Amino acid sequence: MCENGKESRAKVAVFVSGSGSNLQALIDASASGALSADISLVISNRRKAFGVERAATAGIDTFVFKRKKYPTPEEADLALARVLREHEIDYIALAGYLSLIPLPVLKRYQNKIVNIHPAPLPQFGGKGMYGSNVHEAVLSAGVESSGPTVHIVDEIYDNGAVLAHQPVEVISGDTPESLAARVLKAEHQLYAKVLDKLIRGEYHLNHE
Ligand code: GRF
Repeated sequence: MCENGKESRAKVAVFVSGSGSNLQALIDASASGALSADISLVISNRRKAFGVERAATAGIDTFVFKRKKYPTPEEADLALARVLREHEIDYIALAGYLSLIPLPVLKRYQNKIVNIHPAPLPQFGGKGMYGSNVHEAVLSAGVESSGPTVHIVDEIYDNGAVLAHQPVEVISGDTPESLAARVLKAEHQLYAKVLDKLIRGEYHLNHE
C-alpha cells in the first residue's frame, strides 16, 4: 500500500469469541514485523472474552458486537460496517469467532476475510465443527494427520478457498485435549504467515 509515496501498513480487524491466543500471536507478529500489518481493531460478540482483554492490554480499540442489541438485523449490519469503515479496516481475520459474518461485510471484503480452523478442510469442517468437536471427529476418523487450515471466508461455514494447511501428526493415545494443544501451537505459527502472504498479494484468488 502506498500513501503519499510512503508505504503504509494494512489495517486488520480480528474477530474473537474466546481466549484469543491466535489474536495474541497476530499482535506479536505485527509488533515483530513478521506480519506487515497493524491490528487496528478487535471485535467480539462476547464482552467477557479474554481476547477483548488481550486487545485492551495491547492498546487496540475494541468493539463488542451483539446483533440482538439492534432493532433490526439491517441496523446491526450497518453498525458493524460503520465501525470497520471508521477504523479504515483493509482485512479481517477471524480467530475463534463463533458467529457468521453479515453478507454486506462479506461482499465489501471479498477475498479479504480469513479464518483459521483447527483441522483439515473440508473433511473436518462445517456447522457444529468447533472446539473439541473437531478434535473428537479427527480422532474418531482414525486419520494419521490433523493440523490447522487457513481459508477465505464466504457465506458458508468453513467453505472458502483454502490458503494453507500445516500438518500436525496424530499420536497414539492422543485425547482431544492433547491434540488440540499441539494444533493450537501450529496455528500460532501459521496464521500470521498466511495473513502476511495474503496482504502481500501472494495468493491468486478468483474474483467474481
Ligand atoms: C482455534 O483453535 C481456532 O482454530 C478456532 O478457534 C480456536 C480459537 O482459539 N477457530 P483462540 O481463541 O485463538 O485461543
